[in-house]
Amino acid sequence: MFFQTMGFLEVLFLVKLLHFMNAAADCTIAVCSIGEVIPVKFPFRLEGTPRNCGYPGFDLSCNISGMSLVIPPSGGFLVRDIDYLTQQIRLYDSDNCLPKRLLQLNLSGSPFSAVFHQNYTFLSCPTQLVMSRFAIIDCLSNSTISVLATSSASLVKALSASCDVIRTLLIPVSRPDQYSEGFSSELSEDLLLTWLSPDCHQCETQGGMCGFNGIASQEIICSYDSQRGKSSSGRQDLGVIVLSIGIPVLVCASGIAMSAYFMICHPRRDEVYNTRRSTATAPPQPIILVMGLDESTIESFDKLVLGESKRLPGPNGSTCAICLSEYNSKETLRIIPECKHCFHADCVDEWLRMNGTCPVCRKSPSPAHVTSSNISH
Ligand SMILES: *[C@@H]1O[C@H](CO)[C@@H](O)[C@H](O)[C@H]1NC(C)=O
Ligand SMILES: *[C@@H]1O[C@H](CO)[C@@H](O)[C@H](O)[C@H]1NC(C)=O
Ligand SMILES: *[C@@H]1O[C@H](CO)[C@@H](O)[C@H](O)[C@H]1NC(C)=O
Ligand SMILES: *[C@@H]1O[C@H](CO)[C@@H](O)[C@H](O)[C@H]1NC(C)=O
Repeated sequence: MFFQTMGFLEVLFLVKLLHFMNAAADCTIAVCSIGEVIPVKFPFRLEGTPRNCGYPGFDLSCNISGMSLVIPPSGGFLVRDIDYLTQQIRLYDSDNCLPKRLLQLNLSGSPFSAVFHQNYTFLSCPTQLVMSRFAIIDCLSNSTISVLATSSASLVKALSASCDVIRTLLIPVSRPDQYSEGFSSELSEDLLLTWLSPDCHQCETQGGMCGFNGIASQEIICSYDSQRGKSSSGRQDLGVIVLSIGIPVLVCASGIAMSAYFMICHPRRDEVYNTRRSTATAPPQPIILVMGLDESTIESFDKLVLGESKRLPGPNGSTCAICLSEYNSKETLRIIPECKHCFHADCVDEWLRMNGTCPVCRKSPSPAHVTSSNISH
């Protein structure tokens, strides 16, 4: 009885698999079986599906690390997710060193472009001087050289005495300029790119399937379920083909009847679509990560103009810990209230706008102090 059931299930599984393969010829949605579930459909195409299922330059493949997109001449990236409505793709580096890839990124030969971009200057500084005060790009640094990047021109100027500029270049960022701190740390986030052509936005919005109008055609059409899905009545029922090692298919097929398959696997696929939809339809809400102080708070901290004697109050040496250059008389310094650490006003103001703590001891000026210094000035 048990074996009979197993045999029955196997046949069902085979039939279902044949259906999937049939669906492949029809350019339905495909996923890699490893990594996150990212539905692949036009203009993207998974290696192994017919060529006319995708647009040139949009070929994806599955490997054991996940789904990969090659951007010649910059090399392969892994895909975090694809938003078909906004036509955006999030990529990451398999070696976890996106800044290194950004230094060599050249999108001119690909259909992709930056959603937002910003000029960044990469600096190479002596490690013993920079220490951990700035967000150092670890994967580009070693015991002697620390590499960091910033979009702040004044910070570049402040650091120019002790660091070498590697390159200044316009690189894709995931947030518009005004929400961006402009510091190295942002560059390790995903690489967000968009494609303008082929434009399937309208079609996606209406729930259609974008694609070439036939095998030899260069014309792109938007088709709806009734014309397309042979065996399905709605878009949600389109078969999903799983390429490479079909673990999800095997898991679903062995021991579970096909009806159960649909009850278990189906909601999961809907979930995927729903999260994608909700992220796509919600207005883009940039996450503001700036943890710095506002101008009036910064201005409320004491300033001092260095005299000829260059004598400094509190626990301070003769160099500014931010730009590492020596203080000169007549320079304006700012004093952090809690700890009395001093810095060039230009240097520390820039820092405090991005980071509310003292660059040396990491103490944050307490609200009480901020208010009292407000009153006393
Ligand atoms: C998978 O693809 C990525 C991106 O193309 C590549 O960097 C990585 O080396 C590949 N992994 C394997 C194991 O081939
Ligand atoms: C980018 O790549 C193209 C070829 O794809 C090349 O012609 C161009 O010079 C490259 N640009 C840079 C800045 O390297
Ligand atoms: C980036 O910097 C270059 C020169 O360094 C400049 O020509 C260009 O206008 C800058 N672009 C932006 C968007 O700031
Ligand atoms: C650190 O990196 C720099 C530049 O990448 C290189 O010239 C130097 O030899 C490296 N030092 C060590 C100790 O690896």
